[in-house]
Amino acid sequence: MLNMIQEQAKRRRTFAIISHPDAGKTTLTEKLLLFSGAIQSAGTVKGKKSGKFATSDWMDIEKQRGISVASSVMQFDYRDHTVNLLDTPGHQDFSEDTYRVLTAVDSALMVIDAAKGVEAQTIKLLNVCRMRNTPIVTFMNKYDREVRDSLELLDEVESVLQIRCAPVTWPIGMGKNFKGVYHILNDEIYLFEAGAEKLSHEFEVIKGIDNPRLDELFPLEMDNLRAEIELVQAASNEFNLEEFLAGELTPVFFGSAINNFGVREILDALVNWAPAPQGRAALERVVEPGEEKFSGFVFKIQANMDPKHRDRIAFLRVCSGEFSRGMKIKHLRINREIAASSVVTFMSHERELVEEAFAGDIIGIPNHGNIQIGDSFSEGEVLTYTGIPFFAPELFRGVRIKNPLKMKQLQKGLQQLGEEGAVQVFKPHNGGDLILGAVGVLQFEVVASRLAAEYGVDAIFDSASIWSARWVSCPDKKKLAEFEKANGMNLSIDAGGNLAYLAPNRVNLNLTQERWPDIVFNETRELN
Ligand code: G4P
Repeated sequence: MLNMIQEQAKRRRTFAIISHPDAGKTTLTEKLLLFSGAIQSAGTVKGKKSGKFATSDWMDIEKQRGISVASSVMQFDYRDHTVNLLDTPGHQDFSEDTYRVLTAVDSALMVIDAAKGVEAQTIKLLNVCRMRNTPIVTFMNKYDREVRDSLELLDEVESVLQIRCAPVTWPIGMGKNFKGVYHILNDEIYLFEAGAEKLSHEFEVIKGIDNPRLDELFPLEMDNLRAEIELVQAASNEFNLEEFLAGELTPVFFGSAINNFGVREILDALVNWAPAPQGRAALERVVEPGEEKFSGFVFKIQANMDPKHRDRIAFLRVCSGEFSRGMKIKHLRINREIAASSVVTFMSHERELVEEAFAGDIIGIPNHGNIQIGDSFSEGEVLTYTGIPFFAPELFRGVRIKNPLKMKQLQKGLQQLGEEGAVQVFKPHNGGDLILGAVGVLQFEVVASRLAAEYGVDAIFDSASIWSARWVSCPDKKKLAEFEKANGMNLSIDAGGNLAYLAPNRVNLNLTQERWPDIVFNETRELN
């Protein structure tokens, strides 16, 4: 039994794709699913053209904007491994959600548009991965187009993202002259053919960089290529598994997602090198994935995944043991047992009932609002998983309603949206209007449309003269009480019941911090 659980955990690979919008995340996701046989036809993941919508594209606002507001989870098998791919919203306004998804993965695939290089959102996301030293695999995409110089791209990743690059493949040409890639570790050349996704055969492989067949095929290019590869091998880092697992070095692959070129190498890298689920820290102890008893934590809550099911889904990452359908699991924060009979997983665009799940897998628990982000579940042992971050919002709005009789609905709606992590809600000490905090402005639009659609409340958002928020704490309760008394005007309580200081400007924050040296002002709040 124990052996089986350990074996199952070892077979798992759980990762997310991080990229700037338009780098090719959706295209690559689709190719990964096609490649593994999880989906049969292109256009299932994002249906701009086919008219179908992805798992995550159900909200009107998403459809209007053609962006993926919410994350979803896809599971597929590859080479006797079970791979969980967690989708992250690419739009920067939803980065909070993305950050939390990244706490539930064991590795990340960074996709870079090779014509553009490192972009803003990639930098932010990589910084989040760094908080947990998440191993990163890099894919330089769009080599079927004119792109930037490959060595320059590696330099940029190293200097901007502060992670060393180890090219595993190397491109031969680009754009119309894209010939394929040389696999440095395997000493093989994979020949590129445009439109390859439509081909029934596999890409041709030529063994050995000195193979005379290459000179026949590319008489003009081979001398240069051999010289370039010698240079690359001398100038760049060799792949090293330990450094990759420590998040210090990233293997780099080159290709073209749309042509399905380079996809197999990425999957192989994930299966061969990316870590299986590791031990995970709870306040009480580190929990190992191969332990017999089930445990996990909720990293994301999603409302209305499907208009037919008007419930919320809590996404739980399994950290240990075996989950089997119908078993009783304990919701530790409220100390209540639930019979998890309707737990779901997400394949392609349909909900499926989960029969069993192991460390690394994600399960969805339908609920009516009693599960919050960061909640831990187990078979009974008290475990409090840590490390789910909330970030200090950068945008604020006061919120009023047109119809005062709807105050209760507004409060209920905002409390639930706050718990879901869709927006941060602050209740001022001085009893003024509720304040909403967000990382991106689109979050306010989503909240307004959901308040109207789900709670029947027409809310009005006013600008609020708040510059930033800090969660405050102090080990000395007396000092904290003094601080609260003196700063009531600027204090509020968030949806999780935590005390926050809302600063009108940077100067005010600095002065307050100087005046109250014993008080800790936190820029991020880790749940629990
Ligand atoms: P995202 O999820 O990261 O935002 O990117 P997405 O996959 O939607 O890709 C963004 C655009 O880049 C799409 O074109 C897509 O077809 C294109 N693309 C992705 N991979 C490659 C590649 O390897 N080579 C080339 N040449 N293009 C690639 P679009 O015109 O914006 O959208 P669509 O109408 O084709 O869906």
